[in-house]
Formats: sequence, C-alpha cells, structure tokens
Amino acid sequence: MITIKTDAEIALMRESGRITKEVLDLLGSKIKVGMTTKDLDKIAYDYITSCGASPSFLGYSGYPASICVSIDDMVVHGIPSDDDYIKDGQIVSVDVGVEFNGWQGDATRTFMVGNVSEEKRKLVKVTEECFFNAVKNLRDGTPLGDIGYYVQSHAEANGFSVVRALVGHGIGKDMHEDPSVPNYGKKGTGIRLKKGMALAIEPMINEGVYQVDFMSDGWGVRTRDRKPSAHYENTVVITDNGVEILTL
Ligand code: MF3
Ligand code: CO
Repeated sequence: MITIKTDAEIALMRESGRITKEVLDLLGSKIKVGMTTKDLDKIAYDYITSCGASPSFLGYSGYPASICVSIDDMVVHGIPSDDDYIKDGQIVSVDVGVEFNGWQGDATRTFMVGNVSEEKRKLVKVTEECFFNAVKNLRDGTPLGDIGYYVQSHAEANGFSVVRALVGHGIGKDMHEDPSVPNYGKKGTGIRLKKGMALAIEPMINEGVYQVDFMSDGWGVRTRDRKPSAHYENTVVITDNGVEILTL
C-alpha cells in the first residue's frame, strides 16, 4: 500500500531528512585516507543520537551498524569494520537512515578519497546525474516507470550499467514502503505518482556489467566483474509542482 503524506507529515519528514543530510555532510568533511569504515560508523552514530534521533539501519533485520560503507566494487550494504582502512583513490559510498519523531530519512553519497581515477570520477558524477535526470522529470501524475527510464537512459548513454537486483522504495514511517522504485524501466509505464508520495530514489550504477554477487556475510553486494560501482540516494516527496528533495 502506498501511503500519502499530509503537509504536517511532510514537515516531520523534512526534519528527519535534514538530520540525514547533516550526517552525510559531516562524514564528507571527515573522511580521509587511513580512517577505518568503523570510524565513520561511530561518527554517524554519535551525531544521530546527539540530535535525539535514531540510526534506522542499526538492528534492521539484524544489521550491525548505523551506516553502510561500500567501497569500489562493493555496490551496497558494506558493513563497517575496524579492519577496513580507507585508501587513496577509493570511491566510498555511505548510506545512512535516520528516524526522528517516528519518520524516516534515507540518503547516500559516494565520496571520492584522494587521487581518484578519471573513470571512477565519471562514474560518481554520472550516478548523481542519473538521480537528477529522474527528479527533473518527476511531478504529480508521472508514471513510476519514468524514474527508471531517466536513470537507465542516462547511465547507459555514458557506457555504464544499472543494477537490477536492488531498487529504491517508498519511505515514511517505515524505511521501506511501497512502491519499489527500479532504476531501469520504460517511460509511461506503472502507477502514476501523486502529490504526497515519498520515495527514496537511489541509482546504483556500475562501470562494467550490471550483475552483482551477494556476499557470505549476508549483507555485502559486489559487482560480478569486480569493477567499481557508485550509489547516490535522496528521500523526495512529490509536491504540487514537482519534487522536494528532503535530504539535500
Ligand atoms: N538504505 C538501504 C536501502 O534503501 C537500507 C540499508 S539496509 C540496512 O535499502 F539494513 F542497513 F538498513
Ligand atoms: Co534506500
């Protein structure tokens, strides 16, 4: 069931979205070579709890941390670890979920650390552009499939591929609500999006093949060819005249 948010509920989501964005801004300002992925997790946990909010991922289906940190060929759901040091030239995607006053925010940035290759830079840039390409074509009445179409066409026009095995989602009181929001699809297909629907739109774009492998820790997802992948996500709500991005 897709829930429609009232203006008062959207105002609450604006707050959880703001904290989500602040966590990512903070991590972006702190991330550097030699830190561990667990260091980032601790910064996120401390900030979120200092706001009186809670990290939505912690304990979700048994997930053991507040953020996902997915480096290079890790597509999503990298578990922070004391043993994983951030190295020069890596692209590091950080996904964070925040619950505040019962409402969720969910967003991801892919940070470039140190001397990052041209190809990886392009991948990160195109992944962000995929999100904005979808959002600029999104308003009350837009068919859901248009989101996937605008993400996929931009990714593939740049020689990259779109992960199919994982998708974006509705969001609200729950982190994952209906509908599923694929990053691939056909224009003009699917349900029509309406004012008051909130979505986490999250392109996961691979440099090589779109296929992925699920790791034996039950969480990590890597590209099958072990080439890099980037991820970019914001929580958005459909408004009268377009979209408001709550985590930017
Ligand atoms: N942000 C992720 C998503 O949209 C959720 C991470 S999985 C978790 O699906 F277990 F860490 F929460
Ligand atoms: Co999400």
